[in-house]
Amino acid sequence: MKFFVDTAVIEEIRELNDLGMVDGVTTNPSLILKSGRNILEVTREICELVSGPVSAEVVASKAEDMIAEGRKLVEIAPNIAVKVPLTWDGLKACKVLSDEGYMVNVTLCFSANQALLAAKAGATFISPFIGRLDDQSFDGLDLIEDIRTIYDNYDFKTQILAASIRTVNHVAECAKIGADVMTAPPSVIKALAKHMLTDSGLAQFNADWAKTGQSIL
Ligand code: E4P
Repeated sequence: MKFFVDTAVIEEIRELNDLGMVDGVTTNPSLILKSGRNILEVTREICELVSGPVSAEVVASKAEDMIAEGRKLVEIAPNIAVKVPLTWDGLKACKVLSDEGYMVNVTLCFSANQALLAAKAGATFISPFIGRLDDQSFDGLDLIEDIRTIYDNYDFKTQILAASIRTVNHVAECAKIGADVMTAPPSVIKALAKHMLTDSGLAQFNADWAKTGQSIL
């Protein structure tokens, strides 16, 4: 499973990228706001840092305007994936931009039928939002499973990009189901390394090592 990092903060991306943990980046208008940066400038910097797909989201609501914004965004770098919302206009923009050879990430997906439409419109990535479904008492992981089944049934090439990931369990479950990609905030990616038994085991080793009076260096 590929790891995308869900942030527009350069330092956060750099730290994870240096560890080889970043296969791509996702941004959205809220993350751009949080970064305090200009969308074109910060996206260019991200693309210089990361060679994998970098999702940059359109903000228009009409297809023709989304297409114009998408064409501007792809001028930033060849690894831009244009993010469009899962609306009828977004699907139209997806089809046009995909046919022009650009990567398209269809975002704000909350149902299997929406994912089916995105695949038929030629999406490179579909982004089902797990956490936001969980927030509304649905099971976001069920949606990932349903989309996996449907895409496999018909051999759709659209990659399932599990988004709105809030917990470390979301990551493991998505990997078990077979999501192609997951995007998570840096805090969740870092939390994947943590385990209470690792911490307590290390504390024991350190205590015993101190008693030996030895040193390695
Ligand atoms: C990624 O592409 C999405 O924009 C992101 O995962 C949304 O996450 P949130 O629901 O935590 O805002």
